Amino acid sequence: MKAEAGFGRTHGCGRVTSALVGQEVGLCGWVSRHRDHGGVLFIDVRDASGLVQVVVAPELLAEARSLHAEDVIALRGRVRARPPAMVNPRLSTGQVEVHADQLTVLNRSRTPPFSIQDEVGADESVRLRYRYLDLRRPDMAERLRLRDRAARAIREFLHDQDFIEVETPVLTRSTPEGARDYLVPSRLVPGSFFALPQSPQLFKQLLMVAGLERYFQLARCFRDEDLRADRQPEFTQLDLELSFAGASQVMSLVEGMMSHLLERTLGCRVPAPFPRITYGQAMDRYGTDKPDLRVPLEMVDVTDLVAAAAFPPFARAIAAGGRVRGLRAPRGATLSRKELDELGGEFARRGADFFWIMLEEAGPRSPLVRHLGPGPIDALRERLAGRPGDGLFLAAGPPPPVAAALGWLRLELGRRLELSDAGSWRFLWVTEFPLFEWDAEAGQLVAVHHPFTAPLPADGHLLESDPTSVRADHYDLVVNGVELGSGSVRLHVRAVQERVLRILGLSSEEAERRFGFFLEALEYGAPPHAGIALGLDRLVMLLAGASSVRDVIAFPKTARAACLLTGAPAAVDPHQLRELRLETGPLDEC
Ligand code: AMO
Repeated sequence: MKAEAGFGRTHGCGRVTSALVGQEVGLCGWVSRHRDHGGVLFIDVRDASGLVQVVVAPELLAEARSLHAEDVIALRGRVRARPPAMVNPRLSTGQVEVHADQLTVLNRSRTPPFSIQDEVGADESVRLRYRYLDLRRPDMAERLRLRDRAARAIREFLHDQDFIEVETPVLTRSTPEGARDYLVPSRLVPGSFFALPQSPQLFKQLLMVAGLERYFQLARCFRDEDLRADRQPEFTQLDLELSFAGASQVMSLVEGMMSHLLERTLGCRVPAPFPRITYGQAMDRYGTDKPDLRVPLEMVDVTDLVAAAAFPPFARAIAAGGRVRGLRAPRGATLSRKELDELGGEFARRGADFFWIMLEEAGPRSPLVRHLGPGPIDALRERLAGRPGDGLFLAAGPPPPVAAALGWLRLELGRRLELSDAGSWRFLWVTEFPLFEWDAEAGQLVAVHHPFTAPLPADGHLLESDPTSVRADHYDLVVNGVELGSGSVRLHVRAVQERVLRILGLSSEEAERRFGFFLEALEYGAPPHAGIALGLDRLVMLLAGASSVRDVIAFPKTARAACLLTGAPAAVDPHQLRELRLETGPLDEC
């Protein structure tokens, strides 16, 4: 018997199968469970490869009885077939057991704060505080392996397409992606700060100026922003950039990569090309720029059909420039009065009025029948293609709340009426976002994507005269209602880049101060280029079927951007502050 590794180990616990019956094996791992069956002691031993049942020889009983969960042991023994009644078909090792005749305790464990098994009842804060124990649970470890397989598949695919992986700095200048920067004070230049990159945007563009043509990186990004289930302050992007390429080259490259990745990680195939719709179409049909296409419901404008009716909620909405829009839900007529009231409550919270029409066999049932009369009800049924058993749902009000309410209703009905094709991957591209939007709080135009995005060529002439009508050469990759990635064709001519910065309210001095190094680079033969960044954490969250990116990051932060394991962020020694010429004041002065 040849030892594979130290401590006499010959096999991983999860690899001890019936093929080894009769052989002697050396195992190392953690005590998962032990059971004393009156003189026969069973220990389940777990390592990274899985779990195997061990039967302890009588002469080792005393030592084995002293073991506790999570003690670390090494053992030797012979593999035997389990008696038929003891076979466990759920385990890869369920046909066998190892009869141990040597046992060494390598280390003892304190009683863990929660038991190391897939179903854990512990609070997330306890799991994060003892993350090394949480990651010992097989399903968490499997998520990290899945993440590794995804990263490997990405690298494999992009290297095959002649991309090279380049690391870019983490101590850098502010990179505008719409969030607050994390700042790092410089000791050598007191009063000066590095910013951690919100993305490697400018560096990847500089790599295109450098002539590398095809760059990618699994890049760590830092954004001080409000956190949600799909956001972390520190996250990873698959960032890439190509020269002499436009939107369609980036999109087909990403489609190929996603197909390869899904095949490699989950063994599933996704049809390509992915559907492409404009931002305007997405808002009109789904009320959001990241629609979940697994729910087969679409919004339809019906303002013209109800405009003539003297029904005050509709008349008021229309007179104020609002819309009436609706959607049809198969089996919607089964919703109870209580459910309809709940839906109405949610609409009210979003600022839209809610109406319903149930298409029953006997005819339409709705409070609207009395107000609108049969003609408009029939026209609504026809426009929304209603059939017996369907529910028709209408929203009235200003366009943004109507879109938000019906967008929410699509997903809610998909869930309540089980209309969603839950197991599928429904990718789509959303294009033609506006280049700028008005930020009322700041009282100025801001870039919808970032300031380095090019306008669609057809709209370039409107940059100064009608900036909010300019469409960007920007594309988002959306899957199952999640924004997975965002990218654009870049401005590669200095004069045009300067025009865009000017429209964003940056004086030439300010532009020079913040981006002078970059503007200068554009003057040295910058090629046309385009790129995209995909959120790796979000991607793995979807692959794993997890509900938060925290579940697929080894050491994530809480919603308050804190690490419960290390206690970061934390106060520092006064001498460190002095060295940096920093002072901390009372909190109420902030
Ligand atoms: P954007 O800011 O849209 O684009 O980011 C790209 C993708 O990164 C992911 N993402 C996040 N994931 C987890 N936590 C966060 N806080 C977080 N913020 C963003 C999302 C998002 O779609 N430089 C541009 C890309 C480019 O133009 O090439 C950029 O960063 O999945």
